[in-house]
Formats: sequence, C-alpha cells, structure tokens
Amino acid sequence: MAIKVALMGLGAIGRGIARCALQKHDLEIVAAIDLDPHRVGRKLSDVVDAPTPEVVIGSDAGAEMRKAQGGILLHATGSRLDRIEGELAQALTAGLCVVSTCEELSYPWLRHPEIAERLDRLAQKRKLALLGTGVNPGFVMDRLPATLGAVCGHVGRVRVTRVVDSRSRRKQLQLKTGAGLNEEEFDRGVDEGTIGHVGLMESAALASLGVGLEVDEVDESIDPVEAEEDMQGDGFTVPKGGIVGLKQVARAFHDGKEVAVLDLTIALGAPQPRDEIELEGDPGIRVLIPGGTQGDKATAWTVVHAAPLVQGSEPGLISVLDLPAGR
Ligand SMILES: NC(=O)c1ccc[n+]([C@@H]2O[C@H](COP(=O)([O-])OP(=O)(O)OC[C@H]3O[C@@H](n4cnc5c(N)ncnc54)[C@H](OP(=O)(O)O)[C@@H]3O)[C@@H](O)[C@H]2O)c1
Repeated sequence: MAIKVALMGLGAIGRGIARCALQKHDLEIVAAIDLDPHRVGRKLSDVVDAPTPEVVIGSDAGAEMRKAQGGILLHATGSRLDRIEGELAQALTAGLCVVSTCEELSYPWLRHPEIAERLDRLAQKRKLALLGTGVNPGFVMDRLPATLGAVCGHVGRVRVTRVVDSRSRRKQLQLKTGAGLNEEEFDRGVDEGTIGHVGLMESAALASLGVGLEVDEVDESIDPVEAEEDMQGDGFTVPKGGIVGLKQVARAFHDGKEVAVLDLTIALGAPQPRDEIELEGDPGIRVLIPGGTQGDKATAWTVVHAAPLVQGSEPGLISVLDLPAGR
C-alpha cells in the first residue's frame, strides 16, 4: 500500500518535492500545507503545475496532518531548527514520520543538542523516525564522501570542494549568498545569519563521522567573492568588483588536528563548477563530478527517495549516515 504523504512548505523546493513524489508509486499525496495567501485554498495541481490527486492546500497544519496519519511529512519550510522545531514536533505528535530539507536538521547534535534530544525522545515515544536531508547538506559534501569511504582503508582527512555557478540557480540562492550586496551589507548579513550557506558545519561533522573520524570541534569562515567582470543575476546586474557570491569553508577537528575541510563557493559566474571529493587514506580516493551535482531537483529527489526508507527505519532522530547507500 502506498505511503500517505503530507507536504509542508510549497516554495520552489516543496513544489519540486511534490512533482517528484508524483512519480513514485509507493507515495500518495493526501494533504498540502502552506502559509502563503497566494497558495492557500488553491488546488495543489495548479500550484505545482502537474496533475495531482484532488488536494487543496490548507494552512491548518493540524487538520492537514491528520489526513496523512500513519504516513510521512515531506517538509520544506525553513533552514533554522529552532524556528521549525514546533512544526516537526506537531507532525510527530500527529503520527507522521518526517523528512525535512531543514539544513540544521541534517546533523542537529552539532548546534542544537537540546532540540535534537527533544525531537529524538518524541520520535522514539511515537515509534516514528525523522531525518534532515537534501543535496547539500545531505549528499554531496557528507553522504557521498561517507559512501566513498567504503573502499578506503584508514582515512586521515576528508577534503571536499563544491563550486556552484549560481546563474543556473534560483534567485533566492543568489541573494542568500550575497550577490549584489556591498561589503558592509555582506558582513552584516553574515553576522545576522541571513547571508551564508546553512549546513556546511553539519556536513563537515557528518563527512568526518561517516569515514570513521572523531570530531570535537567544527569552525567556519565566510568571505565574499568579487566579480571579475560585469555579471548578470536573476533580475539584477553586479558590476565588475561587486560581490557575486561567497566562499565558505568549514573545518572539523579532533584533538586539534584537522580531519575535514569543506570548501564551498557559490557565486554568479563561478569558474569550473564541480564537486571534488578526496579522502586521504591508504588507499584513498579522489572523485570529480564535472559541472557539479544538480541543486534543487536533486534535493527534491533525495527527500522523495528517503521517504520510504525513513518510514521503514528504526524510530528516532536519524541522519543520512543511517540510510543505506542508494535509494
Ligand atoms: N538540504 C538541502 O540541500 C536544501 C536544498 C535546498 C533548499 N533547502 C532548504 O529548504 C527550505 C525550502 O526552500 P525554498 O527555497 O522552497 O524556501 P521558500 O521559498 O522560503 O519556501 C518555503 C515555503 O514554506 C512556507 N512556510 C513557511 N513556514 C510554514 C509553516 N509553518 N507551515 C506551512 N508553510 C510554511 C512559506 O510560506 P510563506 O512564504 O508565506 O512564509 C513558503 O511558501 C529552505 O529552508 C531551504 O534553505 C535545503
């Protein structure tokens, strides 16, 4: 029997998740939740621009979640765990497993150990599982290196470089990586947490643990990338010398020794877009993905492929390291 699915958050990612879920025969969308007044009350098929079962988007999360009781919530409303904890807890209480794109949920024990503990306790009590995943965090810079570790001996260090030319990505990503800002606005955004990729430190912890390395500290730096020529964003132009994106580096340490370095550049026109993973070991391995892994569609597929795995998982708060390789 198909797993009942409730969707929560129908922004670009949530709509992508809906379209992918429609292609999975073991999932059945029975409810959809959003707060945007332009979406609430409309047919899901109109909002995702695809034929869907007869589902009208509601804003009463409790009522909509009840329709999917015993099934799963595919959640894509926010990146910060302290802001969405209530949504996750409500779903678990309503009897739904959860797969979320919340970046901080990918490894919540790093920044929010108390929330992780609360969610794990609730999930265990309800005999349900919840997971944070996506393309990054959730795959390229953590689950994939961990999977590659299967063919290595002792790994001493994980290095991952991801370069994304954000001209090919949605405007929201261009803006949250600082494109079009001046230096003062960029620095302020970094301090306030509005500029920057959320989840890189979580990936550094996951990648290290995934290849058997211990971690006792993770840090990160975020710097602007300047345009070498005039650059076109989605509806705006950045002149030569202006900010087109960011370079963010997260490092994980054990006993003062660097065990992982994750280097992420997301910028308009970033040269040589790619994913590059190197595990220093004996034997080690180096893998290059020219052009890099797709972003938004890949995120939607990670969520949809994870849904049956989470539904069948041991109860509790799990991470991508608990998932089997593959789908
Ligand atoms: N892990 C990964 O690899 C990965 C990749 C891509 C994206 N993400 C994350 O996934 C999330 C979704 O991305 P997006 O671009 O689709 O974001 P978005 O455009 O902000 O869409 C979020 C949607 O959720 C709605 N929403 C917010 N709070 C809600 C609530 N309590 N109940 C129901 N609906 C609610 C919003 O409505 P309003 O607009 O009215 O608030 C909006 O329609 C973001 O946090 C993003 O950073 C993760």
